[in-house]
Amino acid sequence: MRVIALMNQKGGVGKTTTTVNLGAALAEAGKKVCMIDLDPQAHLTINYGVEPDGENVVNLYQVLIDGKSFLEAVQEVGKNLAIVPGSIDLAAAEIELVTVVGREKILKEKVEAAQHDFDFLLLDCPPSLGLLTINALSLASEVIIPMQPHFLALQGVAKLLETVQLVSKRINSSLKVGGIVLTMFDSQTKLSSEVVAELQKFIEEARGKPLPWADARIFQSKIRRNIKLAESPSFGQTILTYDSQSHGAADYRSLAREVMGEPIAPVVAPTAAAAIAAVPTVTPAKVPAPTKAAPVIAAAPTAPKPAAAPKPAAPKPVVPPKVPAPTAPTAALAPVPTAKPMAKPIAPVASPKPFPIPPKPGETKPIEPKPSVAVTVSPAVAAASAAAKPAPAVKKPIAHSAAPAPQPVAPTP
Ligand SMILES: Nc1ncnc2c1ncn2[C@@H]1O[C@H](COP(=O)(O)OP(=O)(O)O)[C@@H](O)[C@H]1O
Ligand SMILES: [Mg+2]
Repeated sequence: MRVIALMNQKGGVGKTTTTVNLGAALAEAGKKVCMIDLDPQAHLTINYGVEPDGENVVNLYQVLIDGKSFLEAVQEVGKNLAIVPGSIDLAAAEIELVTVVGREKILKEKVEAAQHDFDFLLLDCPPSLGLLTINALSLASEVIIPMQPHFLALQGVAKLLETVQLVSKRINSSLKVGGIVLTMFDSQTKLSSEVVAELQKFIEEARGKPLPWADARIFQSKIRRNIKLAESPSFGQTILTYDSQSHGAADYRSLAREVMGEPIAPVVAPTAAAAIAAVPTVTPAKVPAPTKAAPVIAAAPTAPKPAAAPKPAAPKPVVPPKVPAPTAPTAALAPVPTAKPMAKPIAPVASPKPFPIPPKPGETKPIEPKPSVAVTVSPAVAAASAAAKPAPAVKKPIAHSAAPAPQPVAPTP
C-alpha cells in the first residue's frame, strides 16, 4: 500500500482538488483507493457529497478522539473509492490531542490496526503544519506537494520541506517527497516556466544527499487551469464524472499514470488536436462526433479508454444543509502579502506555531523547527514575480452554500 500525503501549508493551491481527482483517476485505473480528509474545512468530504456530521457518518474526529475504529469511518463513494470524512471538529482535535501521549502517531496506529486492502491511501492535509499534518506525515510514505507556479509559492516550499525533514528524522524515517505537482498551470506565462526551472534546479541540488526530497521530481503532468475542476465539487462529483473529456480530467488521469509509474501520453493541446482532426482523411459528412474523435485521442499509446461516462442526465447540486464556513488558514501559515483579507475573517483555530516535535529519549528539549532549507530564487524569477500584478487572491467559495449552484444543462433530447 502506498500512503501519499497531499501537503502544502498554503491554502487554495489545489490539495483537495488533487486528492479528489487523483483518487478518482487511480480508482478508474483499477486501484483501490481511500482518501482521508484531515482538513477541518472538510471540502474533500463535501466534494464527494458526504455530509460531515450526517447521520450514520463516522468522521475522522471520532476516530482520533472518540475511539472509533478506522474501518467504521471508511465510507464507500464509488467503485474502488472510499473516504474517511473530515469535519469542523478536527480543528478542536488539533488542540485536544496536544495532551495525548503519542499524539503524532494516532492516525498511523488507527490505520495500522485496521484490516483493509487499499492500494492507495491519499491524505488531504489542512493548510497548516500543525498536529493533523504531522499525523499525516507520520503515516505517509510519500509527500506530493501541489503548488501553484508563482514566486511566493516557491518560498513556502522551504518551510514545508523543513517540516518533512524533521518528521523523517524523528518519527518516520521512510518518509520521502515523491514530487511536486503544478496546479492551475498556465504554460503561456514566462513566470510558470521560470518557477519550474528554479524548482528543478533546487531538486537537482539535493540528488544523492540524505534529504527526503533527494529523489523528488516535478511531475510532467501539469494540472491546467480548468473551470470544470472548480465547478464539479458543487455537483458532488469528481472531474471524471462531471466532464470526462475536459482538460482537468485528462490532466488528472495523466497524473495518476505518473503516480502509478506508467508512461504518460503527451498532452495534446486543444488547438493541436483540432488541427490533427481537421486533416481530412475520410470525412463522411455525418459521422457522430464522439466515435470520429476517438481515434485522434486514442493515437496516444497509453491513453486509457475514456470511461463510458455519459454526462449524467441532470446532476443534482449537492447542498448539504450544514456546511462549515471556511476557516482562515490555520497555524503556521506564513502571511501571503498578496492575499486580500476576507471581509470577515474567522479567527485561526490552531496554535500559531508549527507543532514542536518532542525530544527523543536522552535529549533535553524539544526540537523547534529551524530554517535549514534554503530556496534561492533567481533575480529573474523575483523580478518577474514583482512585475506580475498581484492576483486578486479571493478564493472562489465552493458552491456548497445555500446559494444556488450553477444549474447543469439538461441534455437536449
Ligand atoms: N486546475 C484548476 N483550475 C481551476 N480551478 C481550480 C484548479 N484547481 C483548483 N481549483 C479551484 O481552486 C480553489 C482551491 O483549490 P483547493 O483544491 O480547494 O485548494 P486547497 O485544498 O489547497 O485549499 C477551489 O475553488 C478549486 O475548485
Ligand atoms: Mg483543501
